[in-house]
Amino acid sequence: MLRRLFTAAAAALLLAAPALACPGLDHEHGLAPRSSRYATQPSGGTSLLRRLTWGDVNVVSTTDIHGWYQGHLKATQPEPNYSGDWGDFASFVSHLRALAKKKGVDLLVVDSGDLHDGAGLSDGFPPNQVDGHVSNQFHAMIKYDLLSVGNHELYKYNVALDTYRNFVPTQHGRYISSNVNISIADPQTGKNASHIFGKQYVKFRTERGRRVTSLGVLYNFKGQDGGITIQDPKDMVKEAWLAEAIKEEPDFFLLAGHMPVSRDEWPYVIDAIRAVHPRTPILVFGGHTHIRDCTTYDAHSAGLEAGRYLETIGWLSANLSSSKSASGGNLSFSRTYIDANRRNYAFHLGLTDVHQLDTAKGKHITKAMAKVASDWNLTHVYGKAPQDYYLDRVPITSNSSLLNLLENQVLPTVISTSNPDRKGKPNFVLANSGAQRFDISAGDFTKNDQYIVSPFTDAFLYLKDVQLQYARQILPALNKQGAYSKRQSDAKLNEERQRYARGEVEHIYRAWRQSQAEGLGEAAARDLAELDARADADKPTLGYVTKDSCPGQGDDTVHTAIPYSRTPDYIASPITGNSTALADTDTVDVVMVDFIASSVVSILNKVQKERNFTTAEAVAYNTLTTQDLYPVYAEKKWA
Ligand SMILES: *[C@@H]1O[C@H](CO)[C@@H](O)[C@H](O)[C@H]1NC(C)=O
Ligand SMILES: *[C@@H]1O[C@H](CO)[C@@H](O)[C@H](O)[C@H]1NC(C)=O
Ligand SMILES: *[C@@H]1O[C@H](CO)[C@@H](O)[C@H](O)[C@H]1NC(C)=O
Ligand SMILES: *[C@@H]1O[C@H](CO)[C@@H](O)[C@H](O)[C@H]1NC(C)=O
Ligand SMILES: *[C@@H]1O[C@H](CO)[C@@H](O)[C@H](O)[C@H]1NC(C)=O
Ligand SMILES: *[C@@H]1O[C@H](CO)[C@@H](O)[C@H](O)[C@H]1NC(C)=O
Ligand SMILES: *[C@@H]1O[C@H](CO)[C@@H](O)[C@H](O)[C@H]1NC(C)=O
Ligand SMILES: *[C@@H]1O[C@H](CO)[C@@H](O)[C@H](O)[C@H]1NC(C)=O
Ligand SMILES: *[C@@H]1O[C@H](CO)[C@@H](O)[C@H](O)[C@H]1NC(C)=O
Ligand SMILES: [Zn+2]
Repeated sequence: MLRRLFTAAAAALLLAAPALACPGLDHEHGLAPRSSRYATQPSGGTSLLRRLTWGDVNVVSTTDIHGWYQGHLKATQPEPNYSGDWGDFASFVSHLRALAKKKGVDLLVVDSGDLHDGAGLSDGFPPNQVDGHVSNQFHAMIKYDLLSVGNHELYKYNVALDTYRNFVPTQHGRYISSNVNISIADPQTGKNASHIFGKQYVKFRTERGRRVTSLGVLYNFKGQDGGITIQDPKDMVKEAWLAEAIKEEPDFFLLAGHMPVSRDEWPYVIDAIRAVHPRTPILVFGGHTHIRDCTTYDAHSAGLEAGRYLETIGWLSANLSSSKSASGGNLSFSRTYIDANRRNYAFHLGLTDVHQLDTAKGKHITKAMAKVASDWNLTHVYGKAPQDYYLDRVPITSNSSLLNLLENQVLPTVISTSNPDRKGKPNFVLANSGAQRFDISAGDFTKNDQYIVSPFTDAFLYLKDVQLQYARQILPALNKQGAYSKRQSDAKLNEERQRYARGEVEHIYRAWRQSQAEGLGEAAARDLAELDARADADKPTLGYVTKDSCPGQGDDTVHTAIPYSRTPDYIASPITGNSTALADTDTVDVVMVDFIASSVVSILNKVQKERNFTTAEAVAYNTLTTQDLYPVYAEKKWA
């Protein structure tokens, strides 16, 4: 039904002559409020911006959008800096293409996967639909030159199949999955046939006639659903088809892939190409770890990773002609991480007024998204948060800590009281902090925010009647054996490898944020001192302060790093009732997210031998999931 609605009301509109009015899309009513977006558009403040450097080949890159097509809607710093939505980005790309034409250079647009999982426009769909189905249609409204598949496209077979059937065909042969297959049953024979998810590789010519050879590579992901196969990139490079694909020398190789540009397997791919073409330029567009990063693999290659959540637009430019002619000359390239907002887009286009950015197509995309958001009730307000709550900007002891709120308010209010059969029995609730993905901002907590802050759907299980003296030991043990500590025993390393293979990367993003916050002393302080003389309006606000392995400054905006505070991997709510009245041998119910049940069982069997705990004993405590936590809490406490 939504499909029809969308096609009729939105897609058709976008395909129609852009100058036409928008029948069916009411300008005044039924649209998501964008007041925060417009209210925070600054008038000036461009003195903190760094200009783009153009080359004869220029690439705009996106990755890990995770459903954030409507942009960041909150007023809390640095959110307004990422308030540009997919319509604004579409306008930016249109202008850039025109500018490139005028300059007589190439402009390519590349995406590295993970289109959904993380915001309402992808995940907040009505019943009986498929995650990402509609948001993918918005993605398709910007013409990309190259795309590659991400791990989030492959966790669930039905989502993968929908992407394969409905999104890949919209990408005119430029959706590349060199190492990913999907198997589909033949309706006649019932036998499964394996299909390459997109194209294995593509060769094409740019507008200016440059010959390009492209691959699309997913990192060695192991968390995929049945029916999906992923070949390790280091094995892929030994395939005969690859040798054939790279044999002919193009003007440059353009590689897109859901794989971090540093510390992963890109070097295997580069080496395979280098064995045949020692000096042909290679431009790599990675993703997956959600960071801003740039690196070089040798003198003629560069790799760029453009962050996450439509916060960052990557820009990589190179002068291929001059690099080649100057014998022995290295690839001459430049990279910029653009904060995704209208002011910065306008600045980079040399527009004097932000409103000159808008194109008919961009405005239509914005309106069509608002229509979907409204039809899906994404603007529905569960309650008003009294203040900001930060995931990792403040210590967990702070009353502005999201984990503190979760531990001491949300879990006790929503979960501890949710099982009438166990009423009066003391309990506590264990959760992994990784279940939380984003800050809560003061003000309206909407259905859209539900998918942003706590997107996962872990159920709550419990073990009955556990002696307090043992129950008490679970949390410390979980945090000790917990994620990604610095101790590097073999077992530990092995476990970390497995978690990475399944797609867990939040710890890498957080380590990156931490390094920026700690680096505040040096470069940023220098910037700040230099800027001290400026007017208040021109003082840096919070944002990313990127250090990578490429020359010069990467961020397009001078920022002060967002503070960072380490948080525990697991948390527990207080024991309900009067716990000081409980003896060590008194029993409590141990409630936990299903995700950690087997760890909890194994800890309990380690700390005592009186009772043999099994995962089968961990049964449902209620019918809620982690996605219901804040909506229920907000309705109760923030109404
Ligand atoms: C960036 O965020 C700061 C803090 O919220 C705000 O003052 C500034 O106007 C924002 N810049 C843009 C371009 O949105
Ligand atoms: C992927 O599909 C292609 C095309 O059907 C097939 O040739 C190839 O063997 C498959 N690869 C795997 C690993 O299944
Ligand atoms: C075909 O693949 C689907 C999806 O993975 C799987 O559920 C099914 O069991 C397979 N059927 C056969 C006959 O292998
Ligand atoms: C050229 O690249 C090589 C290898 O990356 C590097 O060692 C060298 O310093 C570079 N030369 C210049 C002039 O940047
Ligand atoms: C490319 O060359 C032009 C002209 O010399 C120069 O202005 C520009 O900065 C160069 N771009 C890069 C990415 O090196
Ligand atoms: C949106 O909310 C309205 C009113 O509560 C309800 O009738 C409708 O079914 C909801 N739609 C979706 C997609 O949840
Ligand atoms: C939160 O903590 C701050 C600083 O410790 C304190 O000033 C403030 O009153 C606290 N707010 C609440 C609501 O407890
Ligand atoms: C909790 O229990 C302790 C020990 O039995 C008792 O001293 C205390 O008064 C109780 N507190 C409350 C709030 O009931
Ligand atoms: C505990 O129970 C499980 C499942 O019933 C069984 O496989 C295991 O052998 C038992 N362990 C002990 C130490 O009794
Ligand atoms: Zn990913």
